[in-house]
Amino acid sequence: MKFLSRSADQTHKLGYALGSALKSGDSVLLYGDLGAGKSVFARGCAQALGVQREMASPTFTLMQPYEGDGLTVYHFDLYRLSDPDELYFSGLEEHIGSDGVALIEWPQQGDVSPEPRAEVELRRAEDFDSRTIEITLIGMNDRADAIRRALEACACASAEKEP
Ligand SMILES: Nc1ncnc2c1ncn2[C@@H]1O[C@H](COP(=O)(O)OP(=O)(O)OP(=O)(O)O)[C@@H](O)[C@H]1O
Ligand SMILES: [Mg+2]
Repeated sequence: MKFLSRSADQTHKLGYALGSALKSGDSVLLYGDLGAGKSVFARGCAQALGVQREMASPTFTLMQPYEGDGLTVYHFDLYRLSDPDELYFSGLEEHIGSDGVALIEWPQQGDVSPEPRAEVELRRAEDFDSRTIEITLIGMNDRADAIRRALEACACASAEKEP
């Protein structure tokens, strides 16, 4: 599924729509360059999951947990990961696919592919505030259709769907 977002707000809304459909054990892998909007999208997901605390960028830690509505949201930012051992201490293996929802920025640094997962790829488009957002659902099986509908419904109001 490919969407065109024209503002940070639209990206946040699309994240919120995806987040609303997530449950414990799910992971969201966020790909894209610096400033592409991964954190904006992740904040939308977290808000939909009941996180009320402001989600900052985990500058000095690779993972920051947040209390959501009956589950924990684990926000990973693996950008600064240098040593594979650090990955173990970040709690990545412990927390993905288990007791909460993992939102992972720069997942390619950690070489992870948990299931079920949503892969979200954000790319800068023609003008400054535009991003193409491609979402792929893997292992979501029975939920995939409902999620697709939620994203598309949101797309009517906010981000435009590309042909
Ligand atoms: N359509 C858009 N979608 C998302 N963000 C946008 C959009 N247009 C402008 N922006 C701006 O781009 C920036 C995206 O920052 P964000 O921290 O989400 O990027 P990031 O991908 O998480 O980067 P990093 O790799 O450094 O963590 C924000 O300042 C946001 O306001
Ligand atoms: Mg970020």
